[in-house]
Amino acid sequence: MGYRVEKIRKHNKHTYSQMPSFFFNLDRSLKFEYGDEEYEQIKKIRRHSMVNYRNLATLYEHVIYLEKTGVEGALVECGVWKGGASALMALANLKHSEERRLIHLFDAFDNICEPDPNVDGMFIMDQVREVTGNPSIELKGRMKPIDGIYDKFGGPGTLEENKALFSSIGYPTSHLHFHKGWFQDTVKIASSGINKIALLRLDADLYHSTKICLENLYSKVVPNGIIIIDDYGTYEGCRSATDEFRQDNKITNFLNYSDAECRYWIK
Ligand SMILES: C[S@@+](CC[C@H](N)C(=O)[O-])C[C@H]1O[C@@H](n2cnc3c(N)ncnc32)[C@H](O)[C@@H]1O
Repeated sequence: MGYRVEKIRKHNKHTYSQMPSFFFNLDRSLKFEYGDEEYEQIKKIRRHSMVNYRNLATLYEHVIYLEKTGVEGALVECGVWKGGASALMALANLKHSEERRLIHLFDAFDNICEPDPNVDGMFIMDQVREVTGNPSIELKGRMKPIDGIYDKFGGPGTLEENKALFSSIGYPTSHLHFHKGWFQDTVKIASSGINKIALLRLDADLYHSTKICLENLYSKVVPNGIIIIDDYGTYEGCRSATDEFRQDNKITNFLNYSDAECRYWIK
């Protein structure tokens, strides 16, 4: 049996057990930095997203930029959970454009699959053990939902609640495409039916989940389109999948900070 030597990273991130109050509160201190419009729109989707206020506000501004500059293409999120971030993109489109965009939503609509100990690092393994309350849980990178992982957040996202959220904000169902299943089974097939992408948002925590989406969807992102990697600063698997992909494809576009966790670049 071999050994793996890993640097222990110190995370100043909140632990999962602290998350609900942290995530579900609106951060009023940032209202000044962003503005009333973002604040009011984020309020509508807040309970459907675990993304923090700053990253939601930046996402909203990203879509306004796409509308104002006329960047064509769909809005795509891989890792949707209860739909909050995707619905916020829809709200920005509804407010800032006469034309509805196609929105593609990829998710298992179930608990997340297992991290892979070979590529995802110790931090996420420990987090899964902590959240599930099961220190001896087997984590082998299998495509198998981890029981209880989202219990503290109100369970996994479902198709039904996603559809209800989009209906509540008045986005036309004709422009919504839900791709239910593991990315490993859905993304490649669906990508042939997606023409142009204006914004690609990856929020799937894990190495393989991030890599497969970049490999199959990045080429569809149009010039001046935006690629957001929500977990770049949080999970090392996500970060290395992104770094490898950028290196292999000679992508040197500056990786901007949305905050310490979330990064994006403009193609
Ligand atoms: C962090 S949550 C997404 C949060 C969401 N964007 C929001 O606004 O709160 C990650 C989601 O990605 C999904 N996911 C991760 N890897 C996946 C994979 N390989 N296939 C399908 N879904 C996956 C999980 O099931 C979960 O719903």
